[in-house]
Amino acid sequence: MTAKIIDGTAVAEQIRAEVGAAVAKRIEAGLSKPGLATVLVGENPASQVYVRSKHKACGEVGIESFGFQLPASASQGEVEELVKQLNADPKVNGILVQLPLPAGLDEERVLNAISIEKDVDGFHPLNIGRLAQKGRDPLFIPCTPAGTMYLLENNVDKIEGLNAVVLGRSNIVGMPVALLLVRANATVTICHSRTQNLPDVVRSADILVAAIGKPEMVRGDWVKPGAVVIDVGVNRVEDQTRPKGYRLTGDVAFDEAKEVAGAITPVPGGVGPMTIAMLLKNTLRAAILSDK
Ligand code: GUN
Repeated sequence: MTAKIIDGTAVAEQIRAEVGAAVAKRIEAGLSKPGLATVLVGENPASQVYVRSKHKACGEVGIESFGFQLPASASQGEVEELVKQLNADPKVNGILVQLPLPAGLDEERVLNAISIEKDVDGFHPLNIGRLAQKGRDPLFIPCTPAGTMYLLENNVDKIEGLNAVVLGRSNIVGMPVALLLVRANATVTICHSRTQNLPDVVRSADILVAAIGKPEMVRGDWVKPGAVVIDVGVNRVEDQTRPKGYRLTGDVAFDEAKEVAGAITPVPGGVGPMTIAMLLKNTLRAAILSDK
């Protein structure tokens, strides 16, 4: 059996078109243009690339974006002061502080300074806390986890009752994905570097979300036949046949796993494009919330 290849680029394109249409409608109705502010501290090259793509995507759907850059030497107070100014700026509906922050800055304090109504990344402790609790709803759901769930909801008949295995427990992906799967009534196992008999645990997964950052760690014979596999990993591996000297690969050995899985996301072109689509959706939602 060969798996269905889940085309995240096409799904994200459709979401972006929907956001673009909703933004145009707002403006026609005399409402404000949604605005996103990004805060980039330091010069992490991967973060620079991500932030640039976020601004480009905003422009394409009519969302205004404002980029703020601070040097790696910025103090805790300077970063928090910028966040406070953005909280007070009515043109800014969403604030995104690109992570990771340079060493020496306290990430939790910075995220805590973001007004929860503008927390389009969903990383404010209050939003994450609500995500973890029954009967409470966060204002925003983190973008990559939201994109992962969107792809699952569109490729699994019924998530409820299935065994879901999440590989990785990061604040940005693994943990919020696990919380979302619990909310969807899956039976969730979180695996990490200390998990024993990892291949056996992964083999129990009807749904597998791999977000561990290890190139092609999940082999084809770890995958349960028919499972839906979402590969969140984006790893650079050396490849001298490519112009850049490297290629991108996921956490799953795609060529092996696609022979066993029911459906699988490729890397690139799977979850990656969904992250930005969800950020645009969250920014539009923040603008709508600010209308009231
Ligand atoms: N770094 C890696 N992914 C993300 C993300 O979704 N948001 C932010 N702010 N930083 C990140």
